[in-house]
Amino acid sequence: MKTVALTLSALALALSSFTTYASCEKGEIKAKLSHVTGGTTHPKVVASNRLAERVNSEMNGKMCLEVYPSSTLFGDSKELEALLLGDVQLLAPSLSKFGSYTRKLGVFDLPFIFQDMDHAIRFTQSPTGRELLNSMKEVGFVGLGYWMSGMKYFSANKPLITPNDANGLKFRVQTSDVAKAMISAMGASPQPMAFKEVYGALQTGVVDGQENTWSNIYTKKFFEVQDSITETNHQLLAYLFMTSQEWLDSLKPEIRQQFLEIADEVTQEANLNVKEKEAKNRSNILQADGKINTLTPEQRQQWVDVMKPVWKKFEPEIGADIIEAAAGS
Ligand code: SIN
Repeated sequence: MKTVALTLSALALALSSFTTYASCEKGEIKAKLSHVTGGTTHPKVVASNRLAERVNSEMNGKMCLEVYPSSTLFGDSKELEALLLGDVQLLAPSLSKFGSYTRKLGVFDLPFIFQDMDHAIRFTQSPTGRELLNSMKEVGFVGLGYWMSGMKYFSANKPLITPNDANGLKFRVQTSDVAKAMISAMGASPQPMAFKEVYGALQTGVVDGQENTWSNIYTKKFFEVQDSITETNHQLLAYLFMTSQEWLDSLKPEIRQQFLEIADEVTQEANLNVKEKEAKNRSNILQADGKINTLTPEQRQQWVDVMKPVWKKFEPEIGADIIEAAAGS
């Protein structure tokens, strides 16, 4: 019985790999999508694979899309450069990783600016949110849409109940100045690091903690090397699904239009189901014996009081109008 189950799961894996890594051998336009997340239940994995499935069936013979997950083609540090060099055509990096190209996207990192994902989705659909898609036009980057991932939670090698518990600890952060300031405000030390290095750094004690979504904490197994995760809900993790102007311009108008229509539909579908995926990965963590600390409203307010003052510091570079539009969406 076990052998049959294993054979079936190997077959399922082979079929899904076939969809994901379609072989582009018919002279069609070949596009690569590279990203850093993994597993099967992660919102970015599901959206990327859905995009490949639709492009490869509906544009068969015209365009072929290959997806490279888990930093197998490019990791955090190289992928944006690779897009400009034409070595990859599509990416979906976290909005926290664009600090060297634009400061405006820092609005998505401000702690406690979004009450929940619905609030964040409303902002991305507002005129200001739509404008930010093209905030790196001069660089040659085109934002095709926002892919939501989830709210973020802190985890550490000890229980974090109030911000005092984080005092003196080292936290891995993405390369966002807002995230660095937020961790410093907690009396902790921010350690910027590529996503693929986080598990090892937690395991070996290079850092004590990190902040991420249920989907990343589950699919990358961070919960296995942490004491517990605290339901702070303090920040958003979302992605800029993007390409380069050069690649878009290289496509014939009818091919470009068909691709953009599929890309838009996949984006809408991905954002419809993202809350369910997060909830599923939260329960996956509990089922796998991960520990989650919930907070009373008074305890959570202490985190707000410590972190929210960083907004003021970033207002000049993000823009008070953008912050107001996000907070009031
Ligand atoms: C991702 O979800 O793409 C990675 C986020 C991170 O670097 O923490």
